[in-house]
Amino acid sequence: MASEAGPWSRAVALCVTVLLLDVALCKGFVEDLDESFKDNRKDDIWLVDFYAPWCGHCKKLEPVWNEVGLEMKSIGSPVKVGKMDATSYSSIASEFGVRGYPTIKLLKGDLAYNYRGPRTKDDIIEFAHRVSGALIRPLPSQQMFEHVRKRHRVFFVYVGGESPLKEKYIDAASELIVYTYFFSALEEVIPEYVTLKEMPAVLVFKDETYYEDGDLSAWISRERFQNYLTMDGFLLYELGDTGKLVAIAVIDEKNTSIEHTRLKSIIQEVAKDYRDHFHRDFQFGHMDGNDYINTLLMDELTVPTVVVLNTSNQQYYLLDRQINNAKDMVQFINNILDGTVEAQGGDSILQRLKRIIFDAKSTVVSIFKSSPLMGCFLFGLPLGVISIMCYGIYTADTDGGYIEERYEIVSKSEMEGQEQIEESKEQQEPSRGGSLVPTVQEPKDVLEKKTN
Ligand SMILES: *[C@@H]1O[C@H](CO)[C@@H](O)[C@H](O)[C@H]1NC(C)=O
Ligand SMILES: *[C@@H]1O[C@H](CO)[C@@H](O)[C@H](O)[C@H]1NC(C)=O
Repeated sequence: MASEAGPWSRAVALCVTVLLLDVALCKGFVEDLDESFKDNRKDDIWLVDFYAPWCGHCKKLEPVWNEVGLEMKSIGSPVKVGKMDATSYSSIASEFGVRGYPTIKLLKGDLAYNYRGPRTKDDIIEFAHRVSGALIRPLPSQQMFEHVRKRHRVFFVYVGGESPLKEKYIDAASELIVYTYFFSALEEVIPEYVTLKEMPAVLVFKDETYYEDGDLSAWISRERFQNYLTMDGFLLYELGDTGKLVAIAVIDEKNTSIEHTRLKSIIQEVAKDYRDHFHRDFQFGHMDGNDYINTLLMDELTVPTVVVLNTSNQQYYLLDRQINNAKDMVQFINNILDGTVEAQGGDSILQRLKRIIFDAKSTVVSIFKSSPLMGCFLFGLPLGVISIMCYGIYTADTDGGYIEERYEIVSKSEMEGQEQIEESKEQQEPSRGGSLVPTVQEPKDVLEKKTN
């Protein structure tokens, strides 16, 4: 026994040490913020997670947030990382424009930037670096340009000296820095293969090429994505800002059969070879699995397949035959453009009704799938209780009573699921209007209130 106690207690000691280290190392770098934050934050740049103790997405974010805190500290970033219980300090949270949980914001002087990307350590840290640094970063040399080109898959460059266009560029950047990188350079820094139509100019470098245009904000919103992307829900939502049609190969990445791999390469090929034809109106990509897309379209797609989405009105296009080569795909696209393929879906009232029923159905199905017992409990128990009560009180023709009760339960759990979505959508809204002004101004109000 004694010989076993040795390793056992050592193991316990080790666990305790690891636990303490963990707490000290990770949590130590995320500051718990309270009322004093409002006055004490002025001189620093802060990355803050506004959370609610009861919210599931916030709990999921917590370990990621601790890692973000640790990494920002270890790389010596000037950005401080904190979290605030927005339910305990709700007045401060609402002054910062927090409407959903969790809300991630970078606060820099009078400015507040919302983070809207995927909640992973790397994405959040990249955002913090980008937004905390200079709005427009100068590119003083060709070496620097090459360095930036290797590092960033998409970035914008203003070419030229002071000009009204540069002011517009700065305005656009202050709004869109949450999404992408902005640089400025003199003409001699730009590689020789670039022929500028006019000077000054704004260019985007991506997909091993570049584009030039005038109407800045709208153009930047449209061009800030690479031509071909691995799609997910977040990305599809953001692509709504571009007004482009999104052509997606829906495949199973784990399936190595020729149908799946070929479809992905066909889309890649079309994206690349027909870039000049289609890049203005189309975004290309693939998506692993059909779960998300089925929910979106309220349909059962068999993988592999190609779907083309109009993100502005939720219509979509499917082809009734297989796509075997790039020519088929180009034909499909041309048919969509000339209106010979019929659109499905949309955002009519009928579609919205279908959505409500679909969501209710899938909520019930997913509860039963993930935990049949829970499903029986949720829907069976109230039904059981009610039927016993009804049996005692009413006669047989009050059946409608339980049905109503059951729907009430369905819509409650459905609403819980939706609250998150609605909230995160709401957070996106300011940028859709093409302006960050509401978020930018709120902290100013804070300041003004104080100086008054
Ligand atoms: C891979 O895809 C093919 C064609 O869709 C299908 O017939 C096959 O069952 C899939 N294989 C696996 C392992 O899922
Ligand atoms: C996509 O939807 C928008 C908004 O309804 C519409 O103006 C546009 O023409 C649609 N695009 C295509 C190719 O159907």
